[in-house]
Amino acid sequence: MTLKVLYVCSELFPLLKTGGLADVSAGLPPALVARGADVRLLLPAFPGLVAGVTPEGPTLLVPAGGSPGLPAGLGPQLSTAHGPTPWLQAGRITESDMPVWLLHAPGLYQRAGNPYLDEHGQPWPDSAEQFAWLGWAAALLGNGLDAGWRPDVVHGHDWHTGLAFAYLHELARPAEPRPATVFTVHNLAYQGVFDASLRPRLGLPDGLFHVQGLEFHGQISFMKAALKYSDAITTVSPTYAREITGAEQGCGLDGVLRQRQAQLHGILNGVDDAVWNPLTDPLVQPGFDADHLQGKVLAKARLQQRMGLEPRADALLFSVVSRLTEQKGLHLLPAVVDDLVQRGGQLAVLGSGDAAIEQALRDCVRRHPGQVALTVGYDEALAHGVIAGADVILLPSRFEPCGLTQLYGLRYGTLPLVRAVGGLADTVVDCSLEHLDDGSANGFVFQDLDVPSLLGALRRAFALQRRAADWRSVQRHAMALRFGWPRAASDYLRVYASVLPDAVDP
Ligand code: ADP
Ligand code: GLC
Repeated sequence: MTLKVLYVCSELFPLLKTGGLADVSAGLPPALVARGADVRLLLPAFPGLVAGVTPEGPTLLVPAGGSPGLPAGLGPQLSTAHGPTPWLQAGRITESDMPVWLLHAPGLYQRAGNPYLDEHGQPWPDSAEQFAWLGWAAALLGNGLDAGWRPDVVHGHDWHTGLAFAYLHELARPAEPRPATVFTVHNLAYQGVFDASLRPRLGLPDGLFHVQGLEFHGQISFMKAALKYSDAITTVSPTYAREITGAEQGCGLDGVLRQRQAQLHGILNGVDDAVWNPLTDPLVQPGFDADHLQGKVLAKARLQQRMGLEPRADALLFSVVSRLTEQKGLHLLPAVVDDLVQRGGQLAVLGSGDAAIEQALRDCVRRHPGQVALTVGYDEALAHGVIAGADVILLPSRFEPCGLTQLYGLRYGTLPLVRAVGGLADTVVDCSLEHLDDGSANGFVFQDLDVPSLLGALRRAFALQRRAADWRSVQRHAMALRFGWPRAASDYLRVYASVLPDAVDP
């Protein structure tokens, strides 16, 4: 029997992306399919997603909580503002042919811009309802809403899907089939915490609202709902899986995660070779590989020109491609820029987010015109250009569940300079003498979230640049590493198997 997986998430590359979650939603499902699973995505009908889906097959109404056949008081209520009952449209992602359900709910998803934040950077005021409906649709599909395709596993991602697990818990009836449930934490810092007064609107009965349920300091926590009511929990690197069971990285939920430690698995993300391959990447042609680096030399010159940096082939070019947030540790960067430039380096930053970090970086550009460049915004093509053209990619993160740009950097021979946290600690090996000696070095790693530690790693990068043969061999090793989705997909299938009844063969 083929394993059926309902894969629930809120963004999908290239149709709608705010971060690595979208890359994972594009990379992991096809890898599961390649290993024999029958996977369908469930996504909210945000405009970018609607535009990239070809409808095919049925539509299904999604009855509100308390409708005939459903327990009273469970599931989101219809708001008069929302017009007709939400519905699911079956279809396929036009580009990849992946089967998908799009959840339409008039008034909830048809809005321009970021899926989570309004134009002032504030969460949409109806965020809780938006994602309660997503969780509810997932729970009903899990419970057999589509008689023709009933999933064995419901796999939700991040807090946006959290209520699915609570609703499924409430819908479960002894002796009736229910899907196994798996929840993946991509970022524990975003939890979906809402005022308790929303409980009736979201259809969360008293039985769920207590300290062993989804109550979090008197409020509703979507993240906690998932952590309490899923059968298994995964997160996106082995080190982050350990870190979140401790107070420092646990974001107040470390106690809950310690209780679930036996069902908590760290599975490192992969790289989608169709998108991030320096030889075939249409955004960085001519392409290159470890033996033919002329394309990388050209990419560097193009990048310097595009971002207004002096065209110096010998400058050690550092880069950032990132959300500019506290998480990424970029508040440390302005303090090392003078030193970096004085040593002959350059810096190219692509990112957007925190206004204070943006401003501090603008000041650096003003101090060092031609040596430091900043592009504020989100630009997929430039992101490829930066990762291909730079020598070093910086991730001085405060915390990093996995991190994808260091993996992209490795693939493109752009050595990562990272803080030793989360997935960065699992993937980057410092150019210390012993690691140079045993051939495992692939970047630069520092421990403490402070300026002297970052500066030490920068100095190691300059030191390695002066040892051209060593740089080449580290780069060659980095480019040969593969962080593939096939390995990750096998690990996810093992997690599914651990929570499935014996009858289903993953
Ligand atoms: P996170 O999900 O925490 O933001 P990841 O490293 O997992 O971090 O993923 C970030 C993804 O977003 C990568 O694909 C990266 O290339 C992309 N990205 C980040 N900032 C930008 C930007 N300003 N323009 C284009 N792509 C970006
Ligand atoms: C989150 C994390 C990032 C991770 C990504 C994909 O956005 O911040 O570290 O790579 O999810 O799992």
